[in-house]
Amino acid sequence: MFNLTAQAGTQDFGHGATSTWGFNGAVLGPTLRATRGEQVAVSVTNALDQSTTVHWHGMHLPASADGGPHQPIMPGQTWSSTWKIDQPASTLWYHPHPHGETARQVYRGLAGMFILDDPATSVATLPHDYGVDDIPLIVQDKKFDDAGQLDASPSGVTGMGILGDTIAVNGTVGPHLDVTTERVRLRLLNASNARSYNFGFADGRGFALVGTDGGLLDTAYETDRLQLSPGERAEIVVTVRPGENAVLRSFPQDLGMGRFDRFAGGDDTFDVLQLRDASALAPRPAVPSHLVGLPRLPRTEAVQQRRFELTDDAINGQKMDMNRVDAAPVQDSVEIWKLVNTDGVPHNFHVHDVQFQVLSQDGAAPPPPLTGWKDTIFLPPNVPIELIMRFSDYADAQTPYMFHCHMLYHEDSGMMGQFVVVPPGGSPSGTGHLADPT
Ligand code: C2O
Ligand code: CU
Repeated sequence: MFNLTAQAGTQDFGHGATSTWGFNGAVLGPTLRATRGEQVAVSVTNALDQSTTVHWHGMHLPASADGGPHQPIMPGQTWSSTWKIDQPASTLWYHPHPHGETARQVYRGLAGMFILDDPATSVATLPHDYGVDDIPLIVQDKKFDDAGQLDASPSGVTGMGILGDTIAVNGTVGPHLDVTTERVRLRLLNASNARSYNFGFADGRGFALVGTDGGLLDTAYETDRLQLSPGERAEIVVTVRPGENAVLRSFPQDLGMGRFDRFAGGDDTFDVLQLRDASALAPRPAVPSHLVGLPRLPRTEAVQQRRFELTDDAINGQKMDMNRVDAAPVQDSVEIWKLVNTDGVPHNFHVHDVQFQVLSQDGAAPPPPLTGWKDTIFLPPNVPIELIMRFSDYADAQTPYMFHCHMLYHEDSGMMGQFVVVPPGGSPSGTGHLADPT
């Protein structure tokens, strides 16, 4: 049983005592951990002065346990849910999801990691000693006003929402890690409101990308850059030598988005974490090139296709409406979702409950970082992306799951829709109507 309390506190980011929110503490929340097959129970108490929810991002669970906008927790109340862990070993996370308030609540500090274990889909030779050679990194950008308080006003870059100029990692500005092993696994979570990062090391060293949102990759991918948009996670393994200092950094990236580029991984350079290596490092095995079996979902299994266009704070021209159901996939069925960002503003796309696979990006096979299980994907402007996913084995025609842009200001502004999973032959209940599938 996990007990979380959303509460107010203060944290020192280098500006004195800054008011923050956190779970069971001043800022962020404890890392939760569970093993496949386990029945977990969570109990969340809201000690804040406004309504909240807690959503389990990336988790496969019944819609009523999902913690989206339909499961509000009023101040002073406690909400409980339970589900069975049934998905690969992965790095998930949790955060509030009250419609219209998600951006500010996450920005104030409500977020935590949820690590899933599963012997059948993990690799024993990867670093896995939590806090020693297996390190969670929750990366967020913050900005401060003259009084040292969090500035949650929208940035001057119209349409982006909150953008910070200071990087906090696990709630700490300018962090370092004392490395004691020759390989370190970093579990990166971009828990920022709007900013994407383009991670790499200051000295140009490469690293192995071993996992993405929903689990390990089939094959380790050697690279020196990795872009993560808000909500995405990655597991990387970096090799260090005694006495070195390695700096994990976010680098510029050209995404062809003009004035938005620097906020979508562009011009800005930020140091994220300094790895301070001891003079003697305990040996760790090399990263194997083959990691886990990853069954592909074949295109031929899809029974439905839907198209979603993200533009102007809406999806297919409609803003989020808690009383409208936008899609009703059939329990256990496979669908192809075609996405396109047509307004040239940075967007990404997150689907609750499922882990999807990328069928194509701009008509071509996806690049290696997009070949594993994903629940959130960056949408470059005017680049069509096809996802394939199997919907839940839990049917509940009344309780929706969400899909949305995970740039939180866009989500709060209406770039979100709802789907229910219906039993075969079923239809959604309630007053909503369905968008026409194309
Ligand atoms: Cu990370 Cu609908 O959320
Ligand atoms: Cu967006």
